[in-house]
Amino acid sequence: MNTNPTTIRASKLVKKFGDFTAVNQVSFEVHSGEIFGFLGPNGSGKTTTIRMMLGLVPPTAGEIEVLGIPVDGQIRKILPRIGYMSQQFSLYSDLNVTQNLVFYGQAYGINPSEMKEKISYAISLAGLEGYEGSPTKDLSGGWRQRLALSAAILHHPEVLFLDEPTAGVDPVSRREFWDLLYKLVEEGITVFITTHYMDEAEHCHRLAFIQRGEIIARGTSSEIKDQTMPGEVLEIHTPHPQRLLNILNLPKDSEKIPEFKAELYGSMIHIITPQANKTIQEIKKTAKASDILIDSIAVVEPTLEDVFIACMQER
Ligand SMILES: Nc1ncnc2c1ncn2[C@@H]1O[C@H](COP(=O)(O)OP(=O)(O)O)[C@@H](O)[C@H]1O
Ligand SMILES: [Mg+2]
Repeated sequence: MNTNPTTIRASKLVKKFGDFTAVNQVSFEVHSGEIFGFLGPNGSGKTTTIRMMLGLVPPTAGEIEVLGIPVDGQIRKILPRIGYMSQQFSLYSDLNVTQNLVFYGQAYGINPSEMKEKISYAISLAGLEGYEGSPTKDLSGGWRQRLALSAAILHHPEVLFLDEPTAGVDPVSRREFWDLLYKLVEEGITVFITTHYMDEAEHCHRLAFIQRGEIIARGTSSEIKDQTMPGEVLEIHTPHPQRLLNILNLPKDSEKIPEFKAELYGSMIHIITPQANKTIQEIKKTAKASDILIDSIAVVEPTLEDVFIACMQER
């Protein structure tokens, strides 16, 4: 259990757009010094939740406190102490790296006498040294994310809100971006990050899964695995994953075998089942009857991606 002070507290947040409920009774706490992940597919309510935390849209119901201050009514006291990288962050492509940061620095109201020192702090934290004079339009996606991140930390915020900062960025840059986030945490910054990449769940200290506006699981990665996993995970290696998948997902004779759903997992197949041994025997039989070779089939540790898929299927 994290006993650090609570940096963000959301209680029973609701956001309706007309008749449509985009966020439904969402509650969570983020503790000081952690990376809290908000994971969910597109359209699940991540951006709407962030926008409510920043006072950009009023909640239909519920309350939010950031740094112990209620967002409703006192957001002006909070804003100087937080940073935000929006999903559609904008940089000026005609300006170079330093010029973009000066622009953001002025927008944050940073004192001209402190500008140079704050820019060099942000550049060094974001690992942008050597790129100060590079035109922004020449930067790759990964480097543009870094520049957007350094703009968001220019004023030394205590809390950083990142809305899908790694969307559309290549896997190596994504990995490097996470390394940067750990550096920020070492500097004492608390991070609230949204993502739809399931594999990024494991990088977060604690997380919540959101689906159709509702939190369906929360905790540390091992808490979520222990509490919400409805069975064991089987991993199958086969030269014909798609063919085997199709056959395994045909309706089953539930007398013989517990109902399960097979999912493609890279080039392998993952299956969550409450009765691993029985299921293994049945799968071997089914594959043999269809002349599909199985190289191996075994119980593996569930990843958070398995857990999330299992949670979604249960609903
Ligand atoms: N201003 C709005 N008016 C109407 N519906 C909206 C508005 N903003 C978001 N939504 C809807 O709310 C749902 C959640 O959106 P969003 O929070 O952007 O999801 P995410 O960030 O997880 O992709 C979506 O169905 C979206 O279409
Ligand atoms: Mg979004």
